Amino acid sequence: MDTIITPEDLQHRLDDLRNSQMSIGLVPTMGYLHDGHLSLIRKAKSENDAVVTTIFVNPLQFSATEDLDTYPKDIESDTFLAKEAGTDFLFTPSHKEMFCDDVLTAVSVQEISSVLEGASRPTHFSGVATIVAKLFNIVGVCSAYFGEKDWQQIQVIKRMVKDLSYRVEIEGCPIVREEDGLAMSSRNVYLTEEQRKEAANIPESLLKAHQEIRAGERQSTIVKRIITERLDRSSAIEIDYVELVNGESLKITDQIDEQTRVLVAVKIGSARLIDNMNALKGLDR
Ligand code: PAJ
Repeated sequence: MDTIITPEDLQHRLDDLRNSQMSIGLVPTMGYLHDGHLSLIRKAKSENDAVVTTIFVNPLQFSATEDLDTYPKDIESDTFLAKEAGTDFLFTPSHKEMFCDDVLTAVSVQEISSVLEGASRPTHFSGVATIVAKLFNIVGVCSAYFGEKDWQQIQVIKRMVKDLSYRVEIEGCPIVREEDGLAMSSRNVYLTEEQRKEAANIPESLLKAHQEIRAGERQSTIVKRIITERLDRSSAIEIDYVELVNGESLKITDQIDEQTRVLVAVKIGSARLIDNMNALKGLDR
């Protein structure tokens, strides 16, 4: 595995690969890698000749009150894990290498960026779209792998690719979970031991909702109530939203069908945690 720091260097290396007809898989991350990230790298490796994993804690997607300064980092462990999982090029630019000084350009995907996560974090998805657009421009033609844990993020990126004609195939990958069902996240380290136990209520609430859907429930208000009641049992959990939406348009839906996605966001202590499932299929396991 080669570690690469500058966009120009990566561009040249990948141009060489493409000239030899090699396919490229891209896995964008903010580091502090866990099995969720590694599942993307492994999938990219199994489907491409070469894998680029990027680690960049993108300031554009954090608001002033968010955890940019305390975002967890462990570049030594990340380097080891990324290599083990099959990364060929580890791209770890500093802020200066990515942006020189300042960024004056932004990419924003209207409508689907302002609901759900976007309602609580109004500038977040523009920050994500801008950095991902930049990574797509640096890496060029490739398949890019994203986790379904960030369901809305994938929809925003897919829409950006469609609207701006990026020559990038977007591959969504299932959510990787801890033993008790909690979706893996770099931010889980913010939880105290007690909060960590309480966090298991998130996947459990989705599981409970899915049981009811499997038993025939098709009204989203009732499914929402089942989840909310389950989460409210824990005093550590503060609900941000529980919604049933069309998985692509992210528009709220009354009826449940194959397209319906159930999304949850909560705060526990200083951590904001999200999870989701396909209403009919249930949790990724
Ligand atoms: P980050 O949170 O580091 O996540 C990088 C990728 O790993 C994302 O595609 C995310 O959905 C995926 N991922 C995280 N936890 C996962 C889990 N438990 N199971 C499966 N996949 C998981 O998402 C970002 O970084 C940034 O917004 C980024 C796209 C890199 C742009 O800065």
